[in-house]
Amino acid sequence: MGGAHDAVRDSAAGEAASAWRTHRSGCQINEMTEEHGTYAAMVVRSPGEIELTTLGRSPLADNAVRVAVEAVGVNPVDAGNRADGAWAGLAVPYVVGYEFAGRVLAVGRAVSDLEPGDEVWGLLPVRGTRWGAYAEEVVADAGFVAHRPPALSALEAAALPLAGGTALQILERLEPRAGEWMLVHGAGGGVGHLLVQLARDLGVQIAAPASAARRMFLESLGVVAVVDRAQPEPLRAARERVGADFPLVADLVGGGLLAASLPLMAEGGRAASITDLSGDLDEALDRNITVHGVLLRPGQQRLESLRRLVDRGVLRPVLDEVLPLTEAVRALRRVESGSGQGKVVLRVPSATRSSRGA
Ligand SMILES: NC(=O)c1ccc[n+]([C@@H]2O[C@H](COP(=O)([O-])OP(=O)(O)OC[C@H]3O[C@@H](n4cnc5c(N)ncnc54)[C@H](OP(=O)(O)O)[C@@H]3O)[C@@H](O)[C@H]2O)c1
Repeated sequence: MGGAHDAVRDSAAGEAASAWRTHRSGCQINEMTEEHGTYAAMVVRSPGEIELTTLGRSPLADNAVRVAVEAVGVNPVDAGNRADGAWAGLAVPYVVGYEFAGRVLAVGRAVSDLEPGDEVWGLLPVRGTRWGAYAEEVVADAGFVAHRPPALSALEAAALPLAGGTALQILERLEPRAGEWMLVHGAGGGVGHLLVQLARDLGVQIAAPASAARRMFLESLGVVAVVDRAQPEPLRAARERVGADFPLVADLVGGGLLAASLPLMAEGGRAASITDLSGDLDEALDRNITVHGVLLRPGQQRLESLRRLVDRGVLRPVLDEVLPLTEAVRALRRVESGSGQGKVVLRVPSATRSSRGA
């Protein structure tokens, strides 16, 4: 714990009536105001119904950070949670949204690596996050927040933690080697376009069945074999383009695509799904294929890994659409369409971030 927190304790002992404390940055924080402000959020009041609501701040736990949100990444899971948050342990009212970029407003007494004013990003746990990031402010355990890469705007930074973290986790599990081919379903989407960038950095060659509208985008990211997924047998066409069975498959779409890919995989191949394992997977037994189910686990270490990749120029999110927070329903419809190219992001205008207690 830093000297600032000692100063808080000293002050509390010596000047019990004072609500002010001095952070080690030199900032004076008025704890009364800090705890008693209000903020606006897009609140799910009943399944499917989301509306702008004013919420009261709750006290900051010792290991927590309060962040003024500048931008929020929009993900398919948010749309699912808006419709029904039960799987994530959410009972109405609640706020969806797992990833954000913003500025630290206040830190709990046990937080030593962040301080007010820091530019940060964060990724919240998928289960049990009741007060998510579709809001002017978010409170998170400090273990889920870190300094964001300076090379990214807040909008870009908000687009990276969830999809980028998932892409990283897929590669950690598949352990691709340079020169290997990977068949990627959903390569142009939020997770896909980041997976492609990371895999290319490792020297992996990518084949991607995708809609015709995605061809130029995917080729610009370095996908070697883009095949039109509207043609009669797109997977076989991808196999023919490559000229060999695939040692690696990443399924970011689901609905049986992984099962359909197994006959085109090499003996001893590795496959991963982030959506479902539907369809007949027996072929995996016949060919000694390892099938990984991948669910993102958040944490500072993963954020630091992403930051290093951004710093190295390996990773940069592409924004499909940027909308204001109040247009969250439109943003959710966009990701529900399943036809995005890159990431949808909500902007939280500073004008709507009032001085109420901040
Ligand atoms: N397990 C985890 O931890 C985890 C983490 C993140 C996301 N997810 C899940 O992973 C999925 C992808 O997430 P995302 O953010 O990348 O979604 P997204 O951005 O909405 O993905 C859109 C992409 O999906 C492709 N697609 C849609 N329908 C398709 C179909 N029938 N056949 C082939 N491709 C199809 C589209 O391809 P075209 O452009 O060719 O139409 C588009 O490129 C979602 O279901 C999400 O919930 C899971």
